[in-house]
Amino acid sequence: TTKATTVKLREMKQEGKKIVMLTAYDFPTARVAEEGGADMILVGDSLGMVVLGYETTLPVTMEDIIHHTKAVTRGSKSTMIVADLPFLSYHISTPETVRNAGRLIQEGGADAVKIEGGREVIEGVEAIVRAGIPVVGHLGLQPQMVNQLGGFKVQGKDYESALRIFEDALMLQAAGCCAIVLECIPTPLTKLISEHLDIPTIGIGAGDTADGQVLVIHDMLGITDRYMPRFAKKYSELFQEMTTAVNNYATEVRDSLFPTAQHSFKMNEDVLERLKS
Ligand code: KIV
Ligand code: NA
Repeated sequence: TTKATTVKLREMKQEGKKIVMLTAYDFPTARVAEEGGADMILVGDSLGMVVLGYETTLPVTMEDIIHHTKAVTRGSKSTMIVADLPFLSYHISTPETVRNAGRLIQEGGADAVKIEGGREVIEGVEAIVRAGIPVVGHLGLQPQMVNQLGGFKVQGKDYESALRIFEDALMLQAAGCCAIVLECIPTPLTKLISEHLDIPTIGIGAGDTADGQVLVIHDMLGITDRYMPRFAKKYSELFQEMTTAVNNYATEVRDSLFPTAQHSFKMNEDVLERLKS
């Protein structure tokens, strides 16, 4: 398969082909996402919660994202890779925003960057796009705003907030975004926005009316014993399976059932005899 591009994403929307996106944070998850057939991989700042064990995405740094993006690019050579701009990497100034977006491409090896926000990030988006870097927008629930939102809640349910998200989507498209992630908004709002945009929408907790879907890979594989959001569907129960495997290993070691000859190495008798003498 050939790597998706910004042009390909638009074509997929025009042809009504759903875009499949999945997060990945390291070499093995990137291998799984690519071999499983994802069109796009997101090195999301959900990394902070899913892989690093933080309560929110706020502690994630540029260095964290670059480090993990490098591992992901080694694992997936033919999938479009989008890396998240972490908290505070695009809030200080436009030059700093472009510099940080550039680092995700140049040092991390990503193909595109994702930025949370609407009208307040337009200037930054335009500057990044001017540098030749594809940008994916992110509207609705913006996890980096969790302290201002007062929790991870559905957004855009009332007229004012729905209109704001709708307007922001149009502004992000005008600013040059190649796609927009819509997180945790009502399905009819996703439909309205998707119908009015030429660029694809990629939903998470945004219903079946988006042009594509994204899930956190640890959630969909069930590699977690933490709370899972309602919108995350488990396609596997790997945490349970992995815990059982560790348990079996522990039992076999304690009962001297592992290792067996199959997992061990032999030595010639005469060498052993010489060692003993
Ligand atoms: O960080 C992330 O995983 C994301 C997706 C939930 C869209 O931003
Ligand atoms: Na994110």
